[in-house]
Amino acid sequence: MDHRPRRLRTTPAMRRLVAETRLHPADLVLPMFVAEGATEPRPISSMPGVVQHSVDSFTRAIAEAAEAGIGGIMLFGVPLEKDAIGSGATDPDGILNVATRIAVEEAGDALVVQTDLCLDEFTDHGHCGVLDAHGVVDNDATLERYRDMALAQAESGSQLLGLSGMMDGQVAAVREVLESSGFEDTAILAYSAKYASAFYGPFREAVQSTLKGDRRSYQLDAANGREGIREVLLDIEQGADVVMVKPAGSYLDVLAETAAVSTVPVWAYQVSGEYAMVEAAAANGWIDRDRAIHESVLAIKRAGADVVLTYWATELAGQLR
Ligand code: PBG
Repeated sequence: MDHRPRRLRTTPAMRRLVAETRLHPADLVLPMFVAEGATEPRPISSMPGVVQHSVDSFTRAIAEAAEAGIGGIMLFGVPLEKDAIGSGATDPDGILNVATRIAVEEAGDALVVQTDLCLDEFTDHGHCGVLDAHGVVDNDATLERYRDMALAQAESGSQLLGLSGMMDGQVAAVREVLESSGFEDTAILAYSAKYASAFYGPFREAVQSTLKGDRRSYQLDAANGREGIREVLLDIEQGADVVMVKPAGSYLDVLAETAAVSTVPVWAYQVSGEYAMVEAAAANGWIDRDRAIHESVLAIKRAGADVVLTYWATELAGQLR
């Protein structure tokens, strides 16, 4: 026999030596939820192990994340009041902006503090933008809200704004306002290829979203790979510092293609439903939890992600060290 590929799989040391992909704590970003008015962390039932943080538990979790050596944290706010235009998102005393200032203070130089820039956590209709008279998400009116939100987040110290609303022209709009307001060093993470996905289900509970209808008029159709690449290229052209594919596990083809064409870092978001599936199967004893976590994140890196947003970031980093 000329070829015996099994030779490279004979021992743990050999397998480690020939591994093509490695996970490192610095490649992981932890999404975190902070609830306005919470005095205790509140469990999210569809995401066992993930909570809506109180200020106290939030600061403790940031310290743990820094200790574990992960690369950064992505913050989501859960406001007490929601309204049609998502006023809480642009209020300097709104929960996300308050949490950002706390995080910047607590994280110091150890973590890159990032914020979700989208209106759905703050609107009473649960959409990512403001609605027109017919109840349709108004793209250009929403861009005005995003510009104000970007300023509020940058002023709070966010170092990387995660534009996840899927409005046309959102990267250019936010880039312009940052440039003209003295925040030229605030980076933009564009959720470029963001699909209308059933895998965001548990996130709805996490941010107590009251979404009416669906997001198919602005998020991508799962059927379309090429269209995802178009969004990636448009965002790079508009000045995105990082592009992202989301969800990750069901879109590894889009991720691989993005990695092949992108001139900026490529990240992927392992979303709430991906987390919940593994946790649920593991809780039933149907899969090996630790192995499934490692394999699922490793596969996302192998497909081309430089960084993975995952709710397991701190735990996984601990296992990697
Ligand atoms: C938008 C946003 C969502 C997620 C991250 N940013 C929700 C959505 O677009 O429906 C989902 C993340 C997850 O499911 O883990 N604010």
